[in-house]
Amino acid sequence: PKRVRTRHFQNAKRDGIKITGLTSYDQLTARIFDEAGIDFLLVGDSSGNNVFGYETTLPVTVDELIPLTRAVAGAVKRAFVIADMPFGSYEVGAEEALHTAIRFMKETGAHAVKLEGGVRSAEQIRRVVQAGIPVMAHIGYTPQSEHGLGGHIIQGRGEGVQQLLADAEAVQDAGAFAVVLEMVPSDAARQVTERLDIPTISVGAGPHTDGQLLVWTDWAGLTVGRVPKFVRQYADLAGILGKAAVEWRTDVASGEYPSAEHSYE
Ligand code: KIV
Ligand code: NA
Repeated sequence: PKRVRTRHFQNAKRDGIKITGLTSYDQLTARIFDEAGIDFLLVGDSSGNNVFGYETTLPVTVDELIPLTRAVAGAVKRAFVIADMPFGSYEVGAEEALHTAIRFMKETGAHAVKLEGGVRSAEQIRRVVQAGIPVMAHIGYTPQSEHGLGGHIIQGRGEGVQQLLADAEAVQDAGAFAVVLEMVPSDAARQVTERLDIPTISVGAGPHTDGQLLVWTDWAGLTVGRVPKFVRQYADLAGILGKAAVEWRTDVASGEYPSAEHSYE
């Protein structure tokens, strides 16, 4: 299959073809999602919650994300792989952002990086893009600034739409090839999508964007407990694995496993 490149994102917006993305943190899921035709895989710092067991994404480091990103990038034939820049790896300035982005590109085989923030991150985006590294921007609700935003709160409501539009224009002007809109009202996301030339990707931003992205563990029902309202669960992996584990334990206890079929003569 022909590799997805940034041009694919631009063409999809022009042609009205929806872009799909999922997060991935390992080679097993990367291979499955790639073969299913998912356009891009984000090695998110959501691995903080889903892989490393942290309460938030804040503690995640570049050193933790690099091996996960390498696994995903090494497993795909078609999908565009995006490395998520974690909290503390780009905020100090454009030079820091470029150093981090270069590490991801050299050490993982990712095709692009993502970082959070609109107007406040425009200089960082510009510098990384100038070095030839594609950047996906991320505005609206930005989990790395949870404490600054005062919690897990919808952004771009009421007057907030002006800030959202300003952030969207800032990241486009800085050279981002696409922008994630997280947890914003559908109408605000529609306004941003109409205003911009680059594609918008919704994570809880409704149906009017150019593409959709979900955290794979939420989407596949592997996350135990509450998932956000915007997630539709396409499988019940927690149920399937839990049931399999109980069956296995029972079969071992009863001697039903291993049978002759699963033993060597
Ligand atoms: O880390 C992540 O999974 C993300 C998406 C939810 C946008 O940043
Ligand atoms: Na993230």
